[in-house]
Amino acid sequence: GATKVPMSLLEPNAYINYQRIEDNLAIVRERLKRPLTLSEKIVYGHLDDPVNQDIERGTSYLKLRPDRVACQDATAQMAILQFMSAGMDTAAVPTTVHCDHLIEAQVGGAKDLQRAININREVYDFLATATAKYGLGFWKPGSGIIHQIILENYAFPGGLMIGTDSHTPNAGGLGMVACGCPKVIGVNLTGKISGWTSPKDVILKVAGILTVKGGTGAIVEYKGPGLQSLSCTGMATICNMGAEIGATTSLFPFNNRMADYLNATRRSEIAQYAQRFSHNLKADEGAEYDHEIEINLSELEPHINGPFTPDLATPLSKFKNAVEKNGWPAELKVALIGSCTNSSYEDMSRAASIAKQAKDHGLDTKSKFTVTPGSEQVRATIERDGQMAALENVGGVVLANACGPCIGQWDRRDVKKGEANSIITSYNRNFTGRNDANPATHAFVASPDVVTAMAFAGDLRFNPLTDSLTGADGKPFKFDDPSGNELPPRGYDPGQDTFQPPPADRASVLVAVDPKSDRLQFLKPFAPWDGKTPTDLPILIKAQGKCTTDHISAGGPWLKYRGHLENISQNCLIGAINAENGEANKIKNQITGEYGGVPQVAAHYRDHGIKWVVIGDHNYGEGSSREHAALEPRFLGGLAIITRSFARIHETNLKKQGMLALTFINPDDYEKVRPSDRVDILGLESFAPGKNMTLVAKHEDGTKDEIPLAHSFNEGQIAWFKAGSALNLMAAKAKA
Ligand code: F3S
Repeated sequence: GATKVPMSLLEPNAYINYQRIEDNLAIVRERLKRPLTLSEKIVYGHLDDPVNQDIERGTSYLKLRPDRVACQDATAQMAILQFMSAGMDTAAVPTTVHCDHLIEAQVGGAKDLQRAININREVYDFLATATAKYGLGFWKPGSGIIHQIILENYAFPGGLMIGTDSHTPNAGGLGMVACGCPKVIGVNLTGKISGWTSPKDVILKVAGILTVKGGTGAIVEYKGPGLQSLSCTGMATICNMGAEIGATTSLFPFNNRMADYLNATRRSEIAQYAQRFSHNLKADEGAEYDHEIEINLSELEPHINGPFTPDLATPLSKFKNAVEKNGWPAELKVALIGSCTNSSYEDMSRAASIAKQAKDHGLDTKSKFTVTPGSEQVRATIERDGQMAALENVGGVVLANACGPCIGQWDRRDVKKGEANSIITSYNRNFTGRNDANPATHAFVASPDVVTAMAFAGDLRFNPLTDSLTGADGKPFKFDDPSGNELPPRGYDPGQDTFQPPPADRASVLVAVDPKSDRLQFLKPFAPWDGKTPTDLPILIKAQGKCTTDHISAGGPWLKYRGHLENISQNCLIGAINAENGEANKIKNQITGEYGGVPQVAAHYRDHGIKWVVIGDHNYGEGSSREHAALEPRFLGGLAIITRSFARIHETNLKKQGMLALTFINPDDYEKVRPSDRVDILGLESFAPGKNMTLVAKHEDGTKDEIPLAHSFNEGQIAWFKAGSALNLMAAKAKA
């Protein structure tokens, strides 16, 4: 009979389906008649319709059936509010929500956690009740960082997962993929890793080669004999940071190191099942890649990347020179290890081995030193096994099991804003202001080993491989190579129970949202299309030049309102430059004739029953794929966004929210539209795929221009528009 192996110990009734991969691949192989990469095998193994699906690598949109969904607490708020609008009473695939992003680092773990619980209580209450209601797993604040919890409990070889966080690809360390039909970049690892070189250095090197754009639209697939010398958690570190080169995801083939990790996290059954299907969990012999890279691990040096960008890769031996040549502040203020990227048992053990050596010579860290465990399980285990004590003994402060300084949740007090200074982290991102909101902070990224060693020198010019430090006895000493167990020899200590499974009786659960809350608000469905040809619409703003999702929906303090559409909409397009006057957030209200802020004028139109349009320049909506950038204009009564061109994800997001995303067929026609025009959109009544529309731009002086517009809606997307949004359509289907 069919093998039934649960995907997770926490979800005993949802099973891994390797047979579907096998069956799908039989069909796909017959069609493609060529060897497949591992990425292709897992992605095509999850096709909804392998017989009829178009399959052109790097081109086709694929309809896929993912195995699970993972959300963190910042993005989950709007995602769940939207899910509620879809009218379903339970999630279609196993899903978990993780409370990690809202916890600010101030003084240390337990106190910071309690403070976060007080500040964010209503958000946590909402998430706890909504997950209970709709059958989602809920990981409470203090449980740890999403990607570590996923690796410890949910990731499995050959799985397909979608996540609401950039570093979801972390699960590639356990052979799991996260979406799309991208190109495939192969990274061939030869040689053997040793000494100060760690898995982190593989990705720091790859980032240097490929740059922050090099992975865009691609899955990075690792292979080669060098894999055998990488731990599973180390492979996860490499996959995690694939996000820094823009990769869709990164992936490793199933091997015995993954099996070891599955065994250590009490999932031997999955290890055995994966072993039996291991032929599907690696690339075919002779599979072709769109691009290939080769790295010899035996020759790979530790690297330090940064400042301000993760692809500025400098080998450790050349780093001192780089610091001096570039005038980077040499004094190291803070060294930070941990995060979702580098907080495994192995990472902590190796860092502790360095701390112990220093302590043996009577040294504490010179720089401030923080430790962020990635999960309660790792925290409890390193507490039991002594690594935590070793790190605290030298002055390390253990922060909460949460994102903390990595996402800027850091109440940093040791330098003033604007003061140039250096920090070094084992995290992934280091762009300007990411960690402490100080644009003058030079943030460097390295392995936890290098970060820890640097903390003792307090100086970026220190090279632990070649330089000595002076012990308390006045004698110089050099660090030995760091060492540490890959997995805890006595097994993991689960620590406190921080998981809330969905209750058996979900009908009686009430989702907690206070109507007076300024952080959360239930969503009301958007109105369906009224069937009319739009005429005489004002132009809210003719945006000039770059208009990214950050210009459309700013971050920073606004992120607090992610669960409250009305409040966050007050940032709508406030960063866009008005072509009329070259200013941001200053537009003419075409009814009153007065100038005002963009959100205020938009709301004024909406409240007077007037729909409006936005005119945009090239690549409108580029940047991070922020959902709110599409929700806000819709909420404020916009009908169409008309541009020279769109960033693809934002264009799709607009369609999902029931907005018209239209482009000038002749991009120069952008010039013909004047900010004070009233416009008609002709052809909407016969909206069909591939059929153009016409913009009639009626100028103040009585003249007009007729401008041809194109769109990229398919049948399904047109139905979203007519229903008012994709969720409205789902809700209608759920009811039927
Ligand atoms: Fe959190 Fe930083 Fe990872 S924000 S999820 S620890 S990238």
